[in-house]
Amino acid sequence: MTAQQEATGSQAQEIFRELLEPAGMADPYPHYARLHALGQAIRAGDGLVLVPGYEAASAVLRDPRFLVPDAERLDRVYPGWRDHPSLSAESLLNLNGERHARIRGLMAREFTARRVRDLRPAVERLTDALLDAMAERGSGGEPVDFMDEFAFALPVTVICELIGVPERDRAPFRPLARSLTATLEPLAGAARLAEADEAAVALGEMMSDLVALRRARPAGDLLSALVAACDAGDGRITGSELLHNLILLLVAGFETTTNLLGNGLAIAMADRAVAQGMRTGEVAAEAFVEEVLRFDSPVQFAGDRRPAGPTRVGGILVGPDDHVVLMTGAANRDPRRFTEPGRFWPGRPGPGPLSFGGGLHFCLGAALARLEGAVAFPRVLRRFPGIEPAAGPERRAGVVLRGYEHLPVAVGRILRPRYGMRS
Ligand code: HEM
Repeated sequence: MTAQQEATGSQAQEIFRELLEPAGMADPYPHYARLHALGQAIRAGDGLVLVPGYEAASAVLRDPRFLVPDAERLDRVYPGWRDHPSLSAESLLNLNGERHARIRGLMAREFTARRVRDLRPAVERLTDALLDAMAERGSGGEPVDFMDEFAFALPVTVICELIGVPERDRAPFRPLARSLTATLEPLAGAARLAEADEAAVALGEMMSDLVALRRARPAGDLLSALVAACDAGDGRITGSELLHNLILLLVAGFETTTNLLGNGLAIAMADRAVAQGMRTGEVAAEAFVEEVLRFDSPVQFAGDRRPAGPTRVGGILVGPDDHVVLMTGAANRDPRRFTEPGRFWPGRPGPGPLSFGGGLHFCLGAALARLEGAVAFPRVLRRFPGIEPAAGPERRAGVVLRGYEHLPVAVGRILRPRYGMRS
């Protein structure tokens, strides 16, 4: 390594360390800008390669020679991982090769663009019902927490409906899923890992019960289809793979979309012109969602990768022992790919954001999350033309999942759906 590369590496390490501090988590974007000045990819220590550049991150995501951390990898880098039920190596996010393709193929059938389009009327109905409840709560002028009342409730209901989780079993999912996602954060200490383990066991038990229920009484939902594939015994999906991937769907299916809704509403409330444009239809809801995904992505890092053999990333030579850290939230702000990256500009020209990843592990729920956002934002803004932030918004701690813990809003004047609502 040259002296110049070493100096760049220590600067990157310092920036990364700052990113993990409370101020860095609250506003990572100035830190990303400093990383962009250092290059597309930077070796920031032994075995650690940071990739903040759009081009390099996109190339790694789309290159099948780069592998996600599977059981074999975890055995080498974290020998105790098998003692932690929360560290599954059977979910799609931790599978490579044939096993990933086999399970992904089976699950992808349930998430085709058409199946998702068919969900639109249900998502609209649900959105309107949640807005009715929000209107009721906020009509006296008291603040309503958008996260609790809407941003969490919509995705959890949609994913539970899709999978086939009965209504009475849904309440415990939020705290359990939250605890489980702690494993995504680099700073999750022993206590949070223990909590995540407990949550994984509890979710596993709930899912086993549900599987048993569907086995006894199939219901024409996603769960019934996957249970049938498992019971066919032809090797399409094993019982254990089924459980781990059902849990993945649940957890991936709402923490992230919840944060998309919260981050997007906060942006709309801060930018009256954009909010008004969405009310009138001048700003397309789909374009708004894409720009929220780019500007303030609910997921700031895709999973780490390692190459099967020596290869180059953004000019840096990486090998199978390296952790290649894909900083997709930074890539979405790369000035080499986005004009004025710090400006919120729905419909901006140029490439799409990397918020859903890319390549073999591209988010299975991308179309569903986009649909929920595109249905929700214009409806919220039209229903509550005077909606504005109330005191006490609070970001949740974390560098990977970015969102609000609380986003209190005053709903202001309320438009009844029959007067002037457009779908
Ligand atoms: C705004 C919302 C969402 C964001 C930002 C998001 C982001 C991501 C990202 C970045 C990945 C790839 C990780 C990697 O390459 O290492 C991913 C994978 C995945 N997502 Fe999402 N996601 C969202 C919503 C959803 C929803 C609604 C579902 C399910 C209904 C879902 C299910 C999945 C699954 C199953 C995978 C694993 C795919 C694979 O490894 O083959 N996601 N998501």
